[in-house]
This record gives sequence, structure tokens and C-alpha cells, in this order.
Amino acid sequence: MPEPTPAKKDAAKEKEHPMGDPRYKGIDRVLKRQQYQQDALIEVLTAAQEAFGYLTEESLIYIARQLKLPFSWVYGVATFYHFFSLKPQGEHSAIVCLGTACYVGKAAEIVESLEREFCVKAGQTTSDGKLTVTTTRCLGCCGLAPVVVLDNNVLGKETPETTLAKVRQALGGGNGGNGGTPS
Ligand code: FES
Repeated sequence: MPEPTPAKKDAAKEKEHPMGDPRYKGIDRVLKRQQYQQDALIEVLTAAQEAFGYLTEESLIYIARQLKLPFSWVYGVATFYHFFSLKPQGEHSAIVCLGTACYVGKAAEIVESLEREFCVKAGQTTSDGKLTVTTTRCLGCCGLAPVVVLDNNVLGKETPETTLAKVRQALGGGNGGNGGTPS
């Protein structure tokens, strides 16, 4: 059986696109607000990075398709600006939603507890490279507020205690970057 061409592989990837992931709703909201204007690319990429912690290949494919832009163009813009990252920044990532519903649910306290526990500021990675903590705007699943996305798992109804316990567990039971200097 012949090897699938790169184009076919890309098409297959598009079909497998994780549309069930609620984080895409946040991207959709920006797309709609910008009326799918191609010059809104930077804003849409920013929303995607906030939602996923970095720009996944799938999210770039999705954005290219939604804005009817060539993938190479979207990829070129994403790699041109240093504030976009195409790689997960830490071995693990904790993304805390600070949209209105989550904020009202005291999501800021979750951020503070992560910062304190792992000696890292939101938007940064622990010095041992184990954990990146970021914040984002509404992820589109406000019914679950406050929401934390830990390593691509959407966690709902979180508290500082439950999030810390899950992050500690994800880091292998230790206290992760505790004692480290944020990079
Ligand atoms: S405000 Fe957090 S999911 Fe909507």
C-alpha cells in the first residue's frame, strides 16, 4: 500500500481535528467577533495560545481554515513573533481561566496558590522546566467555572486545594518546581 502523501496526511489531520475540545470555543468567539477577517490573525493566534498554552499544529490548521488563509502563512506569522510558542513550555502545563465566571469563582486564588507553591509567576515556567502556569480568558465552558486545564485535561469546579493536589500528582507526587526560580 502506498504511503499517504503529505497533503493526504494533512487532510486526515484536519478530519481528526479535536472539535470536541471546549477550548476551541474561545477561538471561535474571537473569530466571530472579528467576523473572520484575515487581518485578525494575530488576535486569533493570541486567543489560541491563551487557550492551549502554546500554538498546537492542530490549532494553526484550524485557524488557517477558518480565516481561509494558507497554512504556510499562518505558520509563518506564528513563528515570526517571539511571543508565540509552538511548543509546550514546560513538561506540564496548568492554564487557569480568568474569564468573568471563573474570576467570580475565585480563579485568581488558584493562580496565586500555584504561584506560591511552585515559585513561578503566571506566564512562566519553573526553573526545572516541569511546569508552566498560564492564564487565559473564557474557555467557553463557564458552567464548569472555575476551570483549569491541566495537561490538556479540562478540570471544572476547581479550588486552590483541588488544583494543587492535581498538579502535584501530575508532577509525580513531589512539589514540582518548588524552590526554583521562575525562568
Ligand atoms: S469564564 Fe472560565 S470558562 Fe468561561
